[in-house]
Amino acid sequence: MTRTAIVTGGSRGIGAAISVALRDAGYKVAANYAGNDEAAARFKDETGIPVYKWSVADYDACVAGIAQVEADLGPVDVVVNNAGITRDAMFHKMTPQQWREVIDTNLNGVFNMTHPLWSGMRDRKFGRVITISSINGQKGQAGQANYSAAKAGDLGITKALAQEGARAGITVNAICPGYIATEMVKAIDEKVLNERIIPQIPVGRLGEPEEIARIVVFLASDEAGFITGSTISANGGQFFV
Ligand code: CAA
Repeated sequence: MTRTAIVTGGSRGIGAAISVALRDAGYKVAANYAGNDEAAARFKDETGIPVYKWSVADYDACVAGIAQVEADLGPVDVVVNNAGITRDAMFHKMTPQQWREVIDTNLNGVFNMTHPLWSGMRDRKFGRVITISSINGQKGQAGQANYSAAKAGDLGITKALAQEGARAGITVNAICPGYIATEMVKAIDEKVLNERIIPQIPVGRLGEPEEIARIVVFLASDEAGFITGSTISANGGQFFV
């Protein structure tokens, strides 16, 4: 049986590595993206993975986008809530808009994607909800009150849904990556990254997107059926819960 997966933010960064890893593991994969048409077209050309454009911050757009994916590929068994943005600023400079944009995508996006899929997963008695949270949702990060709050919220919804989904064969787990070599992290001021952040990572390097993708493939598998409500950290030893 070939299972179907949606990866949000699935055409760039960690999401692109997850889309490819799931495809290589035998899944039919739909890579959702919100804005960067050029990167999405390149990703589709390079991988053959179909891309679908909508914003996870918009519930109705998620409902419509999921319906399209299901019409094309079949019922969705696995959702990887990976889409995320940063609007970093020290709190005294953070605008309400910076707060809202991050909460809308990084936290509300998890509701908006998981809620429309939940009933189908319950009916079919199988589902995998895998949400990419962050080390900064675990430990908090100066300059990221919005992002830290959203990512901590992702851990809360994961633990609540794990309890609701367990008897219906749905597992719900979160992964907390540390600092991974993607455009998001490379956008941090070089001095801040090299002088403040990398020295705090015991393994002495940024993580690779594939190091997160391998965890997703494991959590999506039948073999991971007893793991639910968990938070798996992959941060090079930077923070222990
Ligand atoms: N703790 C306490 N105070 C800090 C601090 C910290 N970690 N970092 C900075 N400050 C202080 C500074 O010392 C400075 O204080 P003074 O004015 O008294 O000297 C003040 O805050 C302002 O610092 P900056 O000059 O850095 O302020 P800025 O406005 O130029 O930049 C910022 C602010 C954009 C938030 C910048 O500090 C920054 O980029 N920080 C990194 C934030 C970060 O880690 N983002 C992660 C992005 S990647 C990601 O999110 C993926 C993931 O999941 C891990």
